[in-house]
Amino acid sequence: MPFKEGELVVFADQRIKLLQRLTPGERLHTYWGYIEHDEVLGLEPGSIVRTSEGKKLYVFYPTLSNYIVKMPRKSGIIYPKDLGIIMMWGDIRPGHRVLVGGVGSGALLLAVLRQVGTAGKVVAYDIRQDMLDCAMENIKAWFGHLPSHLELKLGDIYEAGGESGFDRVILDVPEPWRAVRTLDNALVPGGILCSYLPSIMQVRTFTTVLQKSGTFGLIETLEVMLRSWHIEGRAVRPQHRMVGHTGFLTFARKLSRQEFVG
Ligand SMILES: C[S@@+](CC[C@H](N)C(=O)[O-])C[C@H]1O[C@@H](n2cnc3c(N)ncnc32)[C@H](O)[C@@H]1O
Repeated sequence: MPFKEGELVVFADQRIKLLQRLTPGERLHTYWGYIEHDEVLGLEPGSIVRTSEGKKLYVFYPTLSNYIVKMPRKSGIIYPKDLGIIMMWGDIRPGHRVLVGGVGSGALLLAVLRQVGTAGKVVAYDIRQDMLDCAMENIKAWFGHLPSHLELKLGDIYEAGGESGFDRVILDVPEPWRAVRTLDNALVPGGILCSYLPSIMQVRTFTTVLQKSGTFGLIETLEVMLRSWHIEGRAVRPQHRMVGHTGFLTFARKLSRQEFVG
């Protein structure tokens, strides 16, 4: 499908990713000169464009990862490498009902909304209206509208005791242990809880509270180290630089109150 006015595109090479919304008459200014948006309208994804100084770039529709790392932000975000693992370890499926604590800039929400699809439901809390507004703008810019399966709530996830019937709960808030009692009602038996925390001391507190709660099992913490490789002729080696640390991911399963008595 040729590119049309108003679509998001990414100008890219192996190292560079520049996100733009195609607007007639606009120019993307780069370190290597500019690109006229008008020259891109009508091209196919994967086409080559050249800046005014001759630098060659490809133009594609952005992946969700491209978009998340380039979209405007007001908070720290969960990066795509961690979002990928959250989707698999959290086993988030089309049709799932997911409760999110800590909306921030909306990176996590974007991944969850896409994964659960319109048959699912996402309810997300933040204590700051400016964060909800920022996330709303980012989500609208990606989907083209605010998805109807999203409900944003201004409020404290630690106090969200009225929520129930969720398949998954994902927390990106500083003191998730304060939500453990609340989550007991929110998650269905067998549901999965996931928390993203930057410090291992927070993880220790959270894990201890989960262990003592008696209502969560299979508690597991991991971190994701992503190492890219440089492969060019005989130079085959890991990239010199990698992201050292983002956060720790903790997963736990909600236990049933029923017990088999043989
Ligand atoms: C690191 S940001 C979340 C980033 C988000 N997950 C993303 O990927 O873009 C943490 C957010 O948690 C919110 N927050 C802090 N305490 C909270 C609470 N008790 N309930 C709900 N939100 C809270 C903050 O306002 C902030 O927006």
